[in-house]
Amino acid sequence: MKKRVAAFCSHGGSNFAAIAEAAARGEIPIELVVMIHNNARAGACQKAKRRGIASEWVPRKRFSDEDEYAAHLLGVLDRYEVDIVALAGFMQRIPPLVVERFEHRMTNIHPALLPLFGGQGFYGSRVHQAVFDAGMKVSGPTVHLVDDQYDHGPILMQRAVPIDDCRSPEEIAERVLVEEHELYPRALGLLAAGRFCIEGGRARLIE
Ligand code: GRF
Repeated sequence: MKKRVAAFCSHGGSNFAAIAEAAARGEIPIELVVMIHNNARAGACQKAKRRGIASEWVPRKRFSDEDEYAAHLLGVLDRYEVDIVALAGFMQRIPPLVVERFEHRMTNIHPALLPLFGGQGFYGSRVHQAVFDAGMKVSGPTVHLVDDQYDHGPILMQRAVPIDDCRSPEEIAERVLVEEHELYPRALGLLAAGRFCIEGGRARLIE
């Protein structure tokens, strides 16, 4: 039985596209039923349209307070009968009410090895700049379950990427993104298949 997944995007949507393609090829037991975004110019909108996936524009500023925003988001997620939420470059805090409703069913991808280089302020190119400035020899994506803190929650999968020969943060970003596109669909597929056991803040893959 396929799980119904909603992706949340703000920008290019390359991770969203990678998930959609893996699902279309039948590699993972999910169906992407909606792409929720807060930016009408997001590249993710074209990517959704091209693949015949519904998109919903839900900008935070349309709502007077967070409760109203949360209620609207939950309404959309109910309408599409969503089982799992996949944050894929979504630059807006998800209200706690929504996080609670999707406990252990909401994922995020971060372009560094958490808990390093994560948390408030670590987004986009800032992450790779910090990794570069620290002189790291490895970086790589982290897919984790979402809890009430930024870039926090049980880690589902990570991948170490050698970056010692990278000459700029942009080069690191490029190398990590290639791995994101492989790792995110895979982690989501395993979650949808019920292959993770969550105990004491840790996620363990069931063989
Ligand atoms: C990715 O680097 C992801 O790790 C981060 O935001 C970026 C989104 O890129 N959370 P895209 O929109 O999927 O191309």
